[in-house]
Amino acid sequence: MVLLRQLEITSFSFVFIISTILFVSCSAKTYPVDHEQLSEDERIVIRFSHVVGEDTPKGLASRRFAELVEERTDGYVEVQVFPNSFLYKDGEELDALLDGDVQMIAPATSKVSSIVPEWQVMDLPFAFDSELEAKEYISSPAGEVLKKKLEQKGMYYLSYWDNGFKQMTNKHHSLQDPKDFKDVTFRIMESELLEEQFKLLGANSQVETFDQVFSVLEKGHVQAQENTFSNIVNKNIHSVQDYMTVSNHGYLGYLVIMNADFWEDLPDEVQMIILDVLEEVTEWQAELAKQVNQDKYKTLVDCNCMKIHQLSETEKKQWEEALNPLYDTYIERFGAEYIEYIPKLKQ
Ligand code: LMR
Repeated sequence: MVLLRQLEITSFSFVFIISTILFVSCSAKTYPVDHEQLSEDERIVIRFSHVVGEDTPKGLASRRFAELVEERTDGYVEVQVFPNSFLYKDGEELDALLDGDVQMIAPATSKVSSIVPEWQVMDLPFAFDSELEAKEYISSPAGEVLKKKLEQKGMYYLSYWDNGFKQMTNKHHSLQDPKDFKDVTFRIMESELLEEQFKLLGANSQVETFDQVFSVLEKGHVQAQENTFSNIVNKNIHSVQDYMTVSNHGYLGYLVIMNADFWEDLPDEVQMIILDVLEEVTEWQAELAKQVNQDKYKTLVDCNCMKIHQLSETEKKQWEEALNPLYDTYIERFGAEYIEYIPKLKQ
């Protein structure tokens, strides 16, 4: 009788232990239902820092990304977006990403060239005729190698977002002929190739973070700059510049990247949701960037605050001729293999 009782207790304990193990291992796999109640430590928090305003192609896309990721993980993953250089400025944000102080950023390709200089390929003047061509390059074999280089430096490539084509603005005169650039000082993003672009035109350049653009132009520390319609309006650049040339000479796009270790540690299902959402947001963002830039161009026309010049075909040829040596400079430094995949140079 005693033996029977003992057997009962033992089998009950066995069943209890097995059910507990099963319950614990199952609940480790599924997310708790009421994520709202979870603390920051229990949720996954992605801090996403960027330098532009919320009403820009990057600002709007990062917000949409945050909303969709939270929605599709039932709040288990929270994306905190910090726009407008609130948290980190250009340059700082790359260090912050690598140090793990933020987990996600979307810097212009030019800025990433301080760590992977080969990305300067995107700064080559008149390299792309359309947003689509820039995208094609990014997914070409050369683009894939460039993405791998990011990973080797601790940055995991997730996606590529558009802004659009850069235009030239200046305080004192219109920029039409290459000789109009002589001795003018331009604010540039950090990129050796951009520095050389202005040197070839006889101009000077000064690297300034995006949050400083308005201030250095207003104070007259620099007289000119290059940027997209959306960034010109976002930073109120048109209020301190009198001339704009619609030149579409350079392309501005963003690398959406994550700290590589953080990415590695994310559960597979979270990685899948992030990639899925990014695919959707990237497609939406491409259309949005076009629309925002069109709207901002209209703002600049309607404000009657700058004299706007459309670069003619003849002028474009003169600019191209003056700037062509940059292609050789790039090849000498990094090899021809990256250049070959620029659509217009493809054999
Ligand atoms: C700039 O610094 O001019 C731009 O890269 C800002 C941005 O991120 O669009």
